[in-house]
Amino acid sequence: MKLSDNKATLSFSNGSPSVDLPVYQGSVGPDVVDIRKLYGQTGMFTYDPGFLSTASCQSTITYIDGDKGELLYRGYPIEQLATNCDFLETCHLLLYGNLPNASAKADFTRRVTRHTMVNEQMQFFMRGFRRDAHPMAIMTGLVGALSAFYHDSTDINNAEHRDIAALRLIAKMPTLVAMAYKYSMGQPYMYPKNNLSYAGNFLHMMFATPCEEFKVNPVIERALDRIFILHADHEQNASTSTVRLCGSSGTNPFAAIAAGVACLWGPAHGGANEACLNMLEEIQKTGGIEKVGHFMEQVKDKNSGVKLMGFGHRVYKNYDPRAKLMQETCKEVLAAMGLENDPLFKLAMALEKIALEDDYFVSRKLYPNVDFYSGIVQRAIGIPVNMFTGVFALARTVGWIAQLNEMISDPEYKIGRPRQLFSGSVKRDVLPLAKR
Ligand code: ACO
Repeated sequence: MKLSDNKATLSFSNGSPSVDLPVYQGSVGPDVVDIRKLYGQTGMFTYDPGFLSTASCQSTITYIDGDKGELLYRGYPIEQLATNCDFLETCHLLLYGNLPNASAKADFTRRVTRHTMVNEQMQFFMRGFRRDAHPMAIMTGLVGALSAFYHDSTDINNAEHRDIAALRLIAKMPTLVAMAYKYSMGQPYMYPKNNLSYAGNFLHMMFATPCEEFKVNPVIERALDRIFILHADHEQNASTSTVRLCGSSGTNPFAAIAAGVACLWGPAHGGANEACLNMLEEIQKTGGIEKVGHFMEQVKDKNSGVKLMGFGHRVYKNYDPRAKLMQETCKEVLAAMGLENDPLFKLAMALEKIALEDDYFVSRKLYPNVDFYSGIVQRAIGIPVNMFTGVFALARTVGWIAQLNEMISDPEYKIGRPRQLFSGSVKRDVLPLAKR
C-alpha cells in the first residue's frame, strides 16, 4: 500500500477539531482514505451500508474498471485469458499469481485431478436430502460437510493445509455438483475420470451413464471451460466478501466457502442466471418476441417490481466484458447444437437491443451482465435451470479460496466486525408481564 502525498481532511460544522486522514494509492484505480483511526480520534463511525464507497480490504488478485468495462485477473485482461488459456491455468494464476509454464501446468493439473473423488461416505450424506431439493440447498450442505470429511486440511494457519484445501475444493466441486444433479435425476453417480479435462470430466460426470459410452463434445467442453474462466473471480462481490468475513473468524476453509455458496444463491447475485432464464421462458410463454415491448414497459414501471434480470451491475457502468464473451460462446454452442434459431436467444437479443437504445437503461448505465447469456448456453448444453447457480459456484470456488488465502496470509488481517448506526429504543426497563 503506497502512501499518497495527498491527505484528506475531515471537518465538522460544530467546531470539533478537524482530522487529517491518510490517503493510499493502489497500483491502479481509485485512491482510498484510511479511516481506521477515525473512531479513536473523533468517536464517530462512517456509514456505508452496501459498501458503496468502502474498500473492505487490500487485494492483488482481480481488478475491475466498471466505467471502461474492463476485468483483469492478476493484470491479465479477461478477453486474453478466455481465448488463450484454460480454466486450470486460470486457477493457477488466481491462486499463485502467475500463469504456469508447461511443466508447472502439468504439475498443477496432476495435483488437482488427484483430488477429484470425494469420500464415499458423501453419497450416504446426500441420501438425507429430498430428491426435489434445490441443488444450491444441497451444495451449501455438501460443501460445509467437506470439513467433516477432510480434517487434515482445516488449519488455516498452516500454509500447506491452505494449499491442500484449495486443491481439494477446486477438484471436488465438479464432483459434488454432478452428484447433486444425478441424485435429483435418480441416476447412478459417475466417478471422476482423470484423463479428461476439467470441463470434460464435469460433462462426463453430469451426462454419462454406466450403460453406454459418452463422448465429450469439444465445442461444449470449450464453452463450459469458458463459463468457468469468466466466473472464476470478481473481486470483492457479495459472496467473496462473505467468504472473507466468515473466514476472518479463523473458521476452516470448507466452512467459509459454504458461506460463499449460500450467499451466491440469491437472485441479485449468482441466482441471476436462473432468474434470467426463467424470465425469458416466461416472456416466451406469454407471447414471445411480440410481447417484448410490453415486458419492457413493466420493467420501467417502478411499481411493477419487475426487473430485467441479467441487466445492471453494481460495478460495471458499461458493457460487462464477460457478457460479450458469453454472447460469442452462446452463438458457437447454438450453432454446434443446430439451435441457431433458438427462440430464447432471439428473445434475449431483442431485449438487449431495446434496452441498449432505451433512455431508462442508457441514463442508468444498465448493460447486460454475464448472466444474460450464460443461462442460454447452459440450457443448450443440457444443464437444468436450477443447476445454473451450482455451476457458477463451482467456477467461483477458486476465486473464493484465492481471496481467503490472500486475507489469511496478510499479516494485517483482523476479524471483520462492522459497526452500526443504532436507531432502536434507548435503554428502558422490563415491565412485569401483567403491566405490559
Ligand atoms: N432492471 C430494471 N431496472 C434496474 C435494473 C434491472 N435489472 N438494475 C438496476 N435498475 C435500476 C434501479 O431500479 C435503479 O433505478 P433508480 O435510480 O430509478 O432507483 C437504478 O437502476 C440503479 O440500480 P441499483 O439497484 O441502485 O443498483 P445496484 O448497484 O444496487 O444493483 C444489481 C445492482 C443488484 C445487479 C441490479 O442491477 C439488479 O438487480 N440486476 C438484476 C439482477 C442481476 O442480473 N444480477 C446479476 C449481477 S452480476 C452477478 O452476480 C454475476
